[in-house]
Amino acid sequence: MEAKEQVLEMRGAFETEFGRFVDLNPDGQSLTDAEALLREVDALKVRHTGKKSALAESKKLIGKVSPEERGEFGQLVQTVEKDIVSQIDAVEAKLGEYISNARTELDRLDVTLPGRRPRVGHLHPITILRQKIEDIFVSIGYSIEDDREIETDYYNFDALNIPEGHPARESQDTFYTTEGFALRSQTSTVQIRAMERRGVPIRIIAPGKVFRRDTPDMTHVPMFHQIEGLCVDKGITMAHLKGTVTEWLKRLFGEDTVTRFRPSYFPFTEPSAEFDFSCFKCHGTGQFDSARCRPCKGSGWIELGGSGMVHPNVLKAVSVDPQVYSGFAFGFGLERMAALMYSIDDIRHMFDNDVRFLEQFR
Ligand code: DAH
Repeated sequence: MEAKEQVLEMRGAFETEFGRFVDLNPDGQSLTDAEALLREVDALKVRHTGKKSALAESKKLIGKVSPEERGEFGQLVQTVEKDIVSQIDAVEAKLGEYISNARTELDRLDVTLPGRRPRVGHLHPITILRQKIEDIFVSIGYSIEDDREIETDYYNFDALNIPEGHPARESQDTFYTTEGFALRSQTSTVQIRAMERRGVPIRIIAPGKVFRRDTPDMTHVPMFHQIEGLCVDKGITMAHLKGTVTEWLKRLFGEDTVTRFRPSYFPFTEPSAEFDFSCFKCHGTGQFDSARCRPCKGSGWIELGGSGMVHPNVLKAVSVDPQVYSGFAFGFGLERMAALMYSIDDIRHMFDNDVRFLEQFR
């Protein structure tokens, strides 16, 4: 009987192809290998049981064989179909379970493991100090001025009354970039920039990075931070300078802080003064724990920065009439101040970015 042979042949073809899956043991397979196998089995299922399969053909034959043979033939087709389908289903189930277990294993979350604590960052000590000082000045009516770090000689020197050949240029030797440009050696440049931009009256502080051609050691680094202050208006006197500097230092270090101004020289101020404040540790006594106080080295005073009355030539450089307006300016470095406040013996630590160091200043 032709039809019967066709069915047997079909079963033979299936068994040959399916042979390698019969005793399949997925244990030890990788997840991707198992998934690939499952896709092969799925494809094989379509080929052997789908609409265009030999099995589907055989089922159509059932209606075509003679009525006497139909019962037996129908039975045969059914048995073969059951056999094929159940074999495939068994392998599919086995692979499916293996894959699902493997996926679970892969995604497993052990809730008993200790969590990974995110490392919470914090501000750099220089930033902390800068923000404290900014807050004080903002509260007394100053604005914060930010400006460029790459400058021309004009803003770094000439406009600040330091003409070419002036000895003050030498002590502020910096890094030169493209012809005509250099990294600013002082934030005093912002005095000029800000007055050009805003005109007068003006009350600003300008915090920022400055650069000097210095070899790094415990107290020098080639890049550090300064804060510049500038106040220009009608009738501004040295008394305003002293009052302002004293006020912000009192707010930072306490009401009992006192200041002193020593005559000095800066090209862009006349008269000029350096300012000191009473040591925040020994309160000016020079003694701490019956020993020589460290930050002030026993003197009771901490030298902080330079200041003075804005030189008429600086005002003229920005077309402000020195007969009408006057002002004061001051400037100081943040690293030395932070080093004293936080007892840091080597300012290079501040730029090593070693978290063991930085973590101490949360
Ligand atoms: N620019 C000076 C320096 O880097 C500091 C300074 C001194 C700034 C006196 C001033 C000032 O505004 O009046 O050493």
